[in-house]
Amino acid sequence: MKAAVSLTALLALVPTVLAGNFSLVQDFSGNGFFDGWTFYGNFDNLTNGDVTYVNQTNATNLAYVSDAGTAIIKVDNTTFVPYNDKRNSVRITTNDYFTVGTVWIIDAVHLPFGCSVWPSIWTKGNDWPNNGEIDIIEGVNQMTFNQMALHTLTGCSAATGTDETGTSGGNDCSVAAGCTVIENTPNSYGQSFASNGGGVWATQFDVTGIFIWFWGRANVPASVTSATDSLDISTWGPPSAAYPASSCNIPQFFGAQQIVLDITLCGDWAGVPSVYQSTCGNGEAVNASSCYLDNVINNGTSQYADAYFELNYIRAFSVNSTAVVGSDGTPVTSTEAGGSPGSPTSSGSGSSPSGSGGSNDNNNNNNNTNGALVGGVSPGRVYAAGVLCALAWILL
Ligand SMILES: *[C@@H]1O[C@H](CO)[C@@H](O)[C@H](O)[C@H]1NC(C)=O
Ligand SMILES: *[C@@H]1O[C@H](CO)[C@@H](O)[C@H](O)[C@H]1NC(C)=O
Ligand SMILES: *[C@@H]1O[C@H](CO)[C@@H](O)[C@H](O)[C@H]1NC(C)=O
Ligand SMILES: *[C@@H]1O[C@H](CO)[C@@H](O)[C@H](O)[C@H]1NC(C)=O
Ligand SMILES: *[C@@H]1O[C@H](CO)[C@@H](O)[C@H](O)[C@H]1NC(C)=O
Ligand SMILES: *[C@@H]1O[C@H](CO)[C@@H](O)[C@H](O)[C@H]1NC(C)=O
Ligand SMILES: *[C@@H]1O[C@H](CO)[C@@H](O)[C@H](O)[C@H]1NC(C)=O
Ligand SMILES: *[C@@H]1O[C@H](CO)[C@@H](O)[C@H](O)[C@H]1NC(C)=O
Ligand SMILES: *[C@@H]1O[C@H](CO)[C@@H](O)[C@H](O)[C@H]1NC(C)=O
Repeated sequence: MKAAVSLTALLALVPTVLAGNFSLVQDFSGNGFFDGWTFYGNFDNLTNGDVTYVNQTNATNLAYVSDAGTAIIKVDNTTFVPYNDKRNSVRITTNDYFTVGTVWIIDAVHLPFGCSVWPSIWTKGNDWPNNGEIDIIEGVNQMTFNQMALHTLTGCSAATGTDETGTSGGNDCSVAAGCTVIENTPNSYGQSFASNGGGVWATQFDVTGIFIWFWGRANVPASVTSATDSLDISTWGPPSAAYPASSCNIPQFFGAQQIVLDITLCGDWAGVPSVYQSTCGNGEAVNASSCYLDNVINNGTSQYADAYFELNYIRAFSVNSTAVVGSDGTPVTSTEAGGSPGSPTSSGSGSSPSGSGGSNDNNNNNNNTNGALVGGVSPGRVYAAGVLCALAWILL
């Protein structure tokens, strides 16, 4: 009798479980959300924003788990910042690297927005930017929609005429802006995203291509909300952004990827006068200093009241038994411990080079452009061997 009941129960499960061929390999959520991340601990030397990304010691008020169990990552809005100084913010990077075959799910309640605010959730390889970059969530100032992009070395492009619901902003993934796709689904960023209860992004990083889906809260599919140990992506339909392998050899241009969350201020996108003026500046004349002068300095209290991420979780599912690797590509065996095997750098605790803590105004103090590719090193990454699919139903 007991056996018969169990068998019936198992058979009833088969259809759903069979389809869920992506297995959970990492779960950043709840009180353990910040386990397994490295805090940058340096000024923004990538996009020339007017922030200091604090180290973990100084992040207690800016990166924490709320009473509701959500992860908060925010810009400091309690400190008076004198002219020429930067404001504290957060940039964190996963210690884990995720291989081709991974699907990341990001469930957000609130995204940072407001004049001068430039948040992103993105992924990068060990040798940034040569191992590729996937921009999943990115927006500036009072934009009302999310913008996605890939950044690669020369030779990877977004195919034309792909089955995607977003609008392409350019096909060449090697240009400074990357091959962008603008979200058309409503409520993907800004105040309306928050008012709508947030939403969920899914990013498939696959040999067949890179695909990004977005659903506002009311439209998140059951296959996502019910996914625990495994995930079925077969019913999702066309993604918002599609970068099929037909015009971009994914393993050639993308190494195993770390996830990065950051919020910068002004800098190479939000602070560009024409960009800043398009949604901020109160219709007055703006200049290269406006973003900084109008927002970053002084109290910043109300300016940054919405400059925070509130996340339910970030999860990684994979078809790949070597889904999580260290910076050297070596498989990491214990994936859900949230430890730091193969920790890529010691940037979180490293010494602060010139600039950190030092004063500098909003003028750029280095030459790096967001997403711009420097150097010409071939990605030629050595992958860990092992192509076994970790199919959930094997457990049956
Ligand atoms: C997952 O399973 C579906 C059928 O349920 C199949 O079409 C698809 O190719 C599988 N994907 C992978 C990556 O194994
Ligand atoms: C930015 O600063 C970090 C920490 O000092 C350093 O490791 C990294 O190489 C710098 N990046 C650039 C592009 O200068
Ligand atoms: C960083 O944290 C240390 C130790 O808690 C504290 O003494 C210091 O004032 C903090 N500095 C900043 C810039 O927040
Ligand atoms: C698993 O990951 C390895 C290393 O990134 C990759 O070479 C392989 O293609 C992946 N397997 C699948 C099924 O995606
Ligand atoms: C730039 O614009 C800001 C207002 O946004 C103004 O306070 C500042 O004086 C201007 N600077 C220059 C050099 O015009
Ligand atoms: C900063 O905040 C304090 C307290 O709210 C207020 O009295 C003061 O005027 C503010 N200063 C500026 C420059 O906004
Ligand atoms: C400061 O920012 C937080 C969100 O990070 C917000 O809840 C709070 O209201 C802000 N403070 C003020 C006084 O606006
Ligand atoms: C963290 O940053 C603060 C402020 O810059 C600095 O005083 C402290 O030494 C840093 N701590 C570590 C562990 O790097
Ligand atoms: C900008 O890059 C050039 C060439 O690489 C270098 O000579 C110069 O020092 C850089 N300037 C700054 C401000 O870093």
